[in-house]
Amino acid sequence: MANIALLLLLMLGVGCSSIYDRDRGVVATNTPSLREVYTDYFHLGVAVSIASWSAQTFDAHQHLVEKHFSSLTAENEMKPDAMQPRSGQFSFGVADRMVNFAAKNSLKVRGHTLVWHNQTPDWFFKDSAGRLIHEKTEISGEDRQLVKERLESHIEAVMTHYAGKVYAWDVVNEAISDGGGVHRPNSPWYRIFGDEFMEIAFRKAHEVDPNAKLFYNDYNIETGLKRDKTVTELKRLLDAGVPIHGVGIQGHWGVTYPNIREIEQAVVEYAALGLEIHITEMDVEIQGSSEERQAERYREFFRLFKKHSDVITSVTLWGTTDDSSWKRNEKPLLFDKNQQPKPAYWAIVDTEKTWRQNRAEYAD
Ligand code: G3I
Repeated sequence: MANIALLLLLMLGVGCSSIYDRDRGVVATNTPSLREVYTDYFHLGVAVSIASWSAQTFDAHQHLVEKHFSSLTAENEMKPDAMQPRSGQFSFGVADRMVNFAAKNSLKVRGHTLVWHNQTPDWFFKDSAGRLIHEKTEISGEDRQLVKERLESHIEAVMTHYAGKVYAWDVVNEAISDGGGVHRPNSPWYRIFGDEFMEIAFRKAHEVDPNAKLFYNDYNIETGLKRDKTVTELKRLLDAGVPIHGVGIQGHWGVTYPNIREIEQAVVEYAALGLEIHITEMDVEIQGSSEERQAERYREFFRLFKKHSDVITSVTLWGTTDDSSWKRNEKPLLFDKNQQPKPAYWAIVDTEKTWRQNRAEYAD
């Protein structure tokens, strides 16, 4: 009789700390592998930090990574400032650790990112006199050629090094303007090349590694004016024969935004261009709400991803545990600081059931 009572209490969610003890950091047992849950829908990926200055989740959370994910993205270690900190001096060693681990464990790797206005050293943009070309009132053809050569040689060196190991690249990141106009006006790339830099980058990337899937990656391109501008710009480039294979919708969302129908409309519009869709940097800010509400949102988002898994082929969480997130105060991820599954994790174990039902089914 007592066992039934205990089971009922567990089913009601009372005294469930025995399932995962957040204080003692006991790694949760009997938690289904998300990698297996989603194997027939899309790659479920995670961003990891590898280098010494950050949370080093690649090392500290390796068992979570191996159990739950089938794709890796380096959170910072494959960006231009990490790959080529000084002209001609490449630094592949840190990212190689992740890429070699992925190869050994049959994980996919998304390369993030080749061309971005952020985390790109100034040397890319300096003329022979050391002046920043994009800040000059007059930009000469010689200036443009100098920067174009640097852009193309960066793409060539990095993609050659990772050819066959990185299957998809965020070739250009966050080039569309959040405000007026099409392109981000303060981007050095735009200020030097106008709207040609994306074509230069994608054509070079395809020439260097014809087998790599080439993505345009950005945030807030699933709603409103920025979605419309992005669809229009990608269509313009595709119509000009520029080799763009997919769009990365970053997915930095919250409990209250965006509307799920807006995301679905974006999926339909990008797919209509013939593009593959990756959700590349997903996290869901809790915004002062409850973990239960956050779990419901994760469930809603993953139901949509499964519905459109014919064109959504990868979903990447932007981090392993809340405390390692760039938005740590918003506790936006699936696992807590003790690497324990949150309601958000249980919510996506089976999106046809509630998180409590899923958790109860796997109670120890
Ligand atoms: O490299 C320095 C290190 O030398 C120094 O000791 C340390 C001091 O804190 O800072 C290190 O650089 C930090 C870097 O992360 C590596 O940890 C930067 O200060 C910090 O600003 C940088 O933040 C990253 C941010 O991109 C930079 O824009 C976040 O971790 C990363 O999650 C975030 O990711 C971006 C995507 O690449 C593109 N989409 C938006 C997303 C969120 O901003």
